[in-house]
Amino acid sequence: MRRLFLFTFLLYSTSKSLAQVSTVVTVIPQPVQAYVREGKFELKPTTRIHFPQGKADWATVAQYFMGIAQASTGFQLTGIPYQTVPTSLRENGIYFIPDERIEQSEGYQLEIMPLFVAIRARTAAGAFYGAQTLRQMFGPSMGSSTPTKDSAWTAAACIITDYPRFSYRGMHLDVSRHFFPVTFIKRYIDLLATHKFNRFHWHLTDDQGWRIEIKKYPRLHQIGGCREETLVGHATDAPPRFDGKPYCGYYTQEEIREVVEYARQRFITIIPEIEMPGHASAALAAYPELGCTGGPYKVAKTWGVFEDVFCAGNDKTFEFLADVLKEVCALFPGEYIHIGGDECPKTRWKACPKCQKRISTEKLKNEDQLQSYFIRRISEIVARYGKKIIGWDEILEGGLPAGATVMSWRGNDGGIAATKAGQYAIMCPTSHCYFDYYQSDPAQEPLAIGGFLTVQRVYDYEPVPASLTAEEARFILGAQGNVWTEYISTPEQVEYMAFPRACALSEVLWTPANKRAPGDFMRRLRNHFRFLENMGVNYARSYYDVKATFNGGYVSLSTADAQAQIKYTLDGSDPKPTSPGMYSPIPLSKTTTLKAAALVDGKFPGRILTVRYVVHKALNKPYTLSTQPSQYSGGEKYALTNGSIGALRSWYHWVGLQDADFDPVIDLETITPIQKISVNFLVGTGYLIYPPRSIEVFTSNDGENFASVGKREIPVNELVGNRIENVSFNLNGIGARYVKLVAQRYGPLPGSNEKTWLFLDEIMVE
Ligand code: ACM
Ligand code: ZN
Repeated sequence: MRRLFLFTFLLYSTSKSLAQVSTVVTVIPQPVQAYVREGKFELKPTTRIHFPQGKADWATVAQYFMGIAQASTGFQLTGIPYQTVPTSLRENGIYFIPDERIEQSEGYQLEIMPLFVAIRARTAAGAFYGAQTLRQMFGPSMGSSTPTKDSAWTAAACIITDYPRFSYRGMHLDVSRHFFPVTFIKRYIDLLATHKFNRFHWHLTDDQGWRIEIKKYPRLHQIGGCREETLVGHATDAPPRFDGKPYCGYYTQEEIREVVEYARQRFITIIPEIEMPGHASAALAAYPELGCTGGPYKVAKTWGVFEDVFCAGNDKTFEFLADVLKEVCALFPGEYIHIGGDECPKTRWKACPKCQKRISTEKLKNEDQLQSYFIRRISEIVARYGKKIIGWDEILEGGLPAGATVMSWRGNDGGIAATKAGQYAIMCPTSHCYFDYYQSDPAQEPLAIGGFLTVQRVYDYEPVPASLTAEEARFILGAQGNVWTEYISTPEQVEYMAFPRACALSEVLWTPANKRAPGDFMRRLRNHFRFLENMGVNYARSYYDVKATFNGGYVSLSTADAQAQIKYTLDGSDPKPTSPGMYSPIPLSKTTTLKAAALVDGKFPGRILTVRYVVHKALNKPYTLSTQPSQYSGGEKYALTNGSIGALRSWYHWVGLQDADFDPVIDLETITPIQKISVNFLVGTGYLIYPPRSIEVFTSNDGENFASVGKREIPVNELVGNRIENVSFNLNGIGARYVKLVAQRYGPLPGSNEKTWLFLDEIMVE
């Protein structure tokens, strides 16, 4: 017998407590509102998927859901179009129902009942997000693209009302520095859609490769799409090394159309980026007449910012870009074209007669205004093709063209300036949105560009700067995670850098600010990891890395997952599930190698932390500093005497000061015989970290009268590169209570006002 059920719209029951809701609904991003009901819906081979007839985009959503469900379950589900909205819903049916009562264009209501499921939405996009939520409600096995037999295909009964906070929910991918095939671009789009992102910013051109076919200018992909070889290691390494292998790749227009259609079916609009006037080496290598010097130019094989840019004085440049943009606009149906605009050095323009002539004929004041002229002209061209421009926040310099949207990456200021001018902004400050940055201790992570951005920090991001009025805040369209690929050469590594940070960003963009709760997110993330695993995503397990802090002779261990148990050893062996757990700080009284890892469900998903604690006479002794560190504190108050020694590519233990001298005065608390004092300096000239000019050691018994016991000048040769320098002084058993070091800063770089850093760790007294 087939039973019929009445249409139940907004029939909330609050019979379950909030705590139950949060364990039953573990969806990411967190829905706006969820009420848990009794029972569950079971998906069976006989389940029917009902969708409205004659609405192609709704049929697409229903088919998308069927595709996913069939792949995971192995069931052959049946889709049934209906003529009119059913007034009663049949048992064992999943219904997609257009409903004008849903206010938000991307909103939906998902009703999971023991006998049916209904997804109601105003638009097919809303229905698509309802389907994504339903998918996650079936549990992590629904992430699998091959049938898993051991799963019960049930979803807990609930009513979810949901809609996004922001209209622009973006993720970016740079395919110039490294090229990724269409198969991966589609997978990336799928992963974004799963997390309810709706914009994919496709960074198609840059110095290191032009990746989109332009019919009128085939040399762009033929010449501009290939570089001779690629830098190996970090751009700050000296001397630079190369792999000696040509690197090529581009998308045909056919492939672009295929990706655009694939994204459309997942309600993702692609924002193509064609970089100008800077980051143009690949284009200039193909068409050298478009540069100020006429070339010859090469497709770049190192990372950075290059001085050869499009000539702003040559009308041919604008004719060329108009042709290119005409083809680009025809390929991408979205309203926006990203025209770059970032990091354009003005060196060539200053020396170019054509550019200087342009400045005078257009009555411009300087090269900044020339850049602004350039962007304005391009914005007019793009407008002729019915589109609007987005540019990086440098397009504000010299005047923002009317109607342009600013992508704020150098902090929030660009976004703030745009909204105050009544123009739209998309936020992606490096501090919270650069997913090419390290996500855990660099000493343990694969090589990355630099920086430090944990998943927790992404989660804490607030896209609307506090200084905006409510009126100005309306101009913040949303935010975006950026994945620059200088140091990301494979699809697996893209996934590693993007996830789980993109999961955190999805919640920042979707969930109301007052519903965001880091602890709850971290708990749901644990479940979500299983979903990602089933999707085959190479997400970073760095989330489970353990951090150690030393205080008062005790080590404390922590990890982002508050539910994980930390196991440790002190004998140099790897921790096992049976090793001691960290319940309270661990006392250390002798030189020890501590190893620790986070235990989750009987396994260690993260890395093993290894810290060597060296016991010496200054261990755990207090000290003063005239200048206190802010950003690089070594993680604790007395990081210079905590027994753990900073490593290359790691800043956890280093104490860093910018534009200041180090002058620690350590109190050994009693007169102590001293044989040797040694200290390490980090050198990373690419990061402006320089060794001191000199270092001098003083001792004292009263803390007031200090006598110099040794001084060393540090030679200023071979500065380039990354290394650790050790400086030590033999004191031959001098007795002293106080030890003072004065490490004199390197100072500003010659011919530059950039302020250098001084990084120091562990002052060892033996
Ligand atoms: C950028 O990161 N240069 C926009
Ligand atoms: Zn020029």
